[in-house]
Amino acid sequence: MDAIRWEGNTLYLLDQTKLPVTEVWLPYTDYRPVADAIRTMVVRGAPAIGVAAAYAYCLAALAGEGLDEAKETLAASRPTAVNLFWALERMERKAKECGGAAEPLIAEAKAIHAEDVAMCRAMGAHGAAVVPEHARILTHCNAGALATAGYGTALGVVRAAFENRKNIRVIADETRPFLQGARLTAWELQRDGIPVTVACDNACASLMSRGFVSLCVVGADRIAANGDTANKIGTLGVAILARHYGIPFYVAAPLSTIDRSTPDGKHIPIEERLASEVTTIGSTRVTPEGVPVFNFAFDVTPADLITGIITDKGLLTAPYDAAIRDVFAREEQ
Ligand code: MRU
Repeated sequence: MDAIRWEGNTLYLLDQTKLPVTEVWLPYTDYRPVADAIRTMVVRGAPAIGVAAAYAYCLAALAGEGLDEAKETLAASRPTAVNLFWALERMERKAKECGGAAEPLIAEAKAIHAEDVAMCRAMGAHGAAVVPEHARILTHCNAGALATAGYGTALGVVRAAFENRKNIRVIADETRPFLQGARLTAWELQRDGIPVTVACDNACASLMSRGFVSLCVVGADRIAANGDTANKIGTLGVAILARHYGIPFYVAAPLSTIDRSTPDGKHIPIEERLASEVTTIGSTRVTPEGVPVFNFAFDVTPADLITGIITDKGLLTAPYDAAIRDVFAREEQ
C-alpha cells in the first residue's frame, strides 16, 4: 500500500482527506500546490510529508524555478514534523552538488522514498520482538503506510508482528479532530486483513483499566535529543494512562525523525490548526458560533513515559540522550 507515486515527472498523491469513502489520486506538476496539499493534509504523516516535499523540490527544478524559494515555501507548510526539514535539507545539499539539475535531484528524491520503505521494514523487524503473542495493541493517529512511503512505523511494527503469525488485534483511537485513526488506520489495516477495532479517544482509560490493552505503539513527528517525543495530540494522555496501568508504551520512528538540534520537548514547535477542524464535523457545526477552541495538532510525551523507541537501527531505551548520541555516532562512523 502506498500514498505517494512519481510517474513521468508528475507527483501523484492519494488524497487522505477523502479516505475511507473515496480513493482519489491527485496529480501535481507545480511545487506550490504540493505545499498546499501538505498544509491541508492531502498528504500527512511525518515521513510521507518529507517524501512529498522532496518530489515537490524536483518539480521546481524541472520548471527551472528558484530552488531556495521552493524550499522556503515547502518548509512553511507544517512546522512540527522534522522529516520535512530533513528531506528539504538533503535535497538542497544535492542541488548544491549537481548545480540544481533535475535528473540527479529526482534520483535523490527516489532514494529518500525507497529508503523510507526500507527503514519502516527494519523498524518492523526490530519492533515485532516487543509484541507478545495475543497482544492487544493500542495506537493513536495513523503511523502506517499512508503516513510513510509504505509499511508504516507504528503500523510497521504491527504488520511485522502479524506477518510473524502473532495473533494480535489493534485498537485504533479515533483521533479527533481529523480522525486519522478512525478513517486511515482502520482503512489500511482492514485492507491488509489485520484485525482492528476503533475506539473513541475518551475510551482509552476505561479500556486500559478493563485489561483490553496490552501494549501501546505510536509514531512520532519529532523526537528531541533527550527522547521527548512530539506526536498527534492525545498521545501524551495515552502515555500517562499507560504508565498508570503499567502498560508498555513504545514510540516507533526512523532516525530521520530524531532532531538532535532540539534539546528537549519544550523546544519542539507545536502546530496550531484552523478552529474549523474542531467546530465542525463534515459540514455540520457542532459548537456554538463565537466560542473559541483549542486546536493544537501535537503534544509532547516526556521521555520518562516511553518504554522504548523502536528505530530502523534497533530499540533505544533510557537514558535516551546517551542512546541517541550512540546510535548516531555508530551511523556517522
Ligand atoms: O497531523 P498528521 O496526521 O500529519 O500527524 C501524524 C502523526 O502524528 C503521526 O503519528 C506521525 O507523523 C508519525 S507517521 C509515521
